[in-house]
Amino acid sequence: MIRSHLQFLGMVLQTSRIFSLLLVSSAATLFVVVSWGRLSRNISWTALARKATHTGEDSLLDSGSKFGNIKGNSGPPASVFTTAQKAKTDQTTASTHAAVGETPMPVLSRESFGKLPQWDFEDVYNRDAPPRHTACAQSVQNSEDESFRKAFLPDIRLFMHKDDINMSEWNRLSHFNNPFGFMGFKYDDVMASVKLIPKPKEPLLDTKPGGDGCVRCAVVGTAGILNGSRMGKEIDAHDYVFRMNGAVVKGYEEDVGNRTSVYVHTAHAITRSLSLLKKYGYSSAPNDEGIKYVMIPEGMRDFYWLEGLFKGEKVSAGQYHNKQPRMYYGGQYNESRFYVLHQDFLRYIRNRFLMSATLNTSSWAIVRPTNGAFTLFLALHTCDVVSAYGFMTEDYKKYSNYYFERTTKTSVVFYLNHDYILEKNLWTKLHNSKIIRLYQRADSETGTEELKPH
Ligand SMILES: *[C@@H]1O[C@H](CO)[C@@H](O)[C@H](O)[C@H]1NC(C)=O
Ligand SMILES: *[C@@H]1O[C@H](CO)[C@@H](O)[C@H](O)[C@H]1NC(C)=O
Ligand SMILES: *[C@@H]1O[C@H](CO)[C@@H](O)[C@H](O)[C@H]1NC(C)=O
Ligand SMILES: *[C@@H]1O[C@H](CO)[C@@H](O)[C@H](O)[C@H]1NC(C)=O
Ligand SMILES: *[C@@H]1O[C@H](CO)[C@@H](O)[C@H](O)[C@H]1NC(C)=O
Repeated sequence: MIRSHLQFLGMVLQTSRIFSLLLVSSAATLFVVVSWGRLSRNISWTALARKATHTGEDSLLDSGSKFGNIKGNSGPPASVFTTAQKAKTDQTTASTHAAVGETPMPVLSRESFGKLPQWDFEDVYNRDAPPRHTACAQSVQNSEDESFRKAFLPDIRLFMHKDDINMSEWNRLSHFNNPFGFMGFKYDDVMASVKLIPKPKEPLLDTKPGGDGCVRCAVVGTAGILNGSRMGKEIDAHDYVFRMNGAVVKGYEEDVGNRTSVYVHTAHAITRSLSLLKKYGYSSAPNDEGIKYVMIPEGMRDFYWLEGLFKGEKVSAGQYHNKQPRMYYGGQYNESRFYVLHQDFLRYIRNRFLMSATLNTSSWAIVRPTNGAFTLFLALHTCDVVSAYGFMTEDYKKYSNYYFERTTKTSVVFYLNHDYILEKNLWTKLHNSKIIRLYQRADSETGTEELKPH
């Protein structure tokens, strides 16, 4: 499998970056704050829409490359490579007697890689999700944008569940750092939780009866642009409203709406928001009747969280040890309305749409799209028509970091683990290609027209 190594990374910013300021501490994590210098707004999907062969799983498993090969010459440090090679040899020997993939591969360590490793199956994803049939002519699935069509995988598996992971899958996913896989995690630790994840009984969203067959969704981020926007009514008029992270609603309805149909979160977001956002009136995660909860399993702490949640017990280990997960969902936790995003889906979004230049640095392992980006792509895969509100826009400097910071103007904080400028440019591009509608203020510098109600 020879593919041009990292070619698709070329799409990202040709930028001069200035790493400045340090250290904002958030719970257990230390992030480096970065301020970005000049940037190019010119990004394209074509560069990254590499040939997506669907032969992936089979060739991956059948070729015996259960322990993956690094693409190109720029492999990882010798120690890791040796481990992987040795493991592969052992496995080859073993597999003459037993079926491939009966034991977990040796644990790879993120510290062994000086930048994002590129495996020859990097761009191979679990794609056996039932395709979404839509009668909607304007559906994003019917987009005529050539580069988007190439990058977009309508059949990618969105959700992870207990029947979907066997040893081959475990070993494949163990090559990717979290949240894109299980690198550095122990099989027993993760599987204690994964084996409890129920198979979703129904698709995340249904087409509303009596309509024109189009599923219309609003995805509401937390950006300051929403303050004073009076977009609440328009947001609520969608079939479904997605929110994520610190989704403060009460007291802000006029600007952000009052409905939440899908709430996307991590264990960190659902616990920390309570204390951090209390002063803005936030007292619970959204808990509308019948709400769907979607979890981004971003780290081991989320798997411990899930285990406690599904068992209805306290978290047994990790950062949220002894917390009662079920208490955080405002009485609306219900196993049949709970979904866990699949590592392949998260990696696909990074690889094909948001490949940050920072992945080429030693900080690679913490760099990933924001939860807002993951949520917007979840909507693009489950809705026909998607409007994004409260996402970063070209004129972001005019607004507070968050919409609920309305009394004092704050500035957008750039953490090294997210590439906000890359995301901002992607939202603009998706908007200009009519793939999403990005809410922008009429008075914005770019002069882009304000969204009109449907
Ligand atoms: C393991 O699971 C994957 C994904 O569901 C599937 O494609 C593959 O056939 C399974 N392999 C075995 C040996 O069952
Ligand atoms: C949202 O507000 C509308 C009135 O503007 C009201 O009819 C509806 O019940 C509210 N929904 C929720 C979930 O609070
Ligand atoms: C959980 O949600 C499903 C689907 O909405 C519903 O049919 C079921 O009654 C709910 N269970 C409980 C215990 O509320
Ligand atoms: C990452 O580095 C490789 C060479 O090592 C280069 O080809 C690629 O363009 C770089 N990607 C980014 C996004 O800077
Ligand atoms: C938020 O919006 C209100 C109403 O438009 C405005 O008075 C206030 O100055 C805004 N706050 C910030 C921080 O921009």
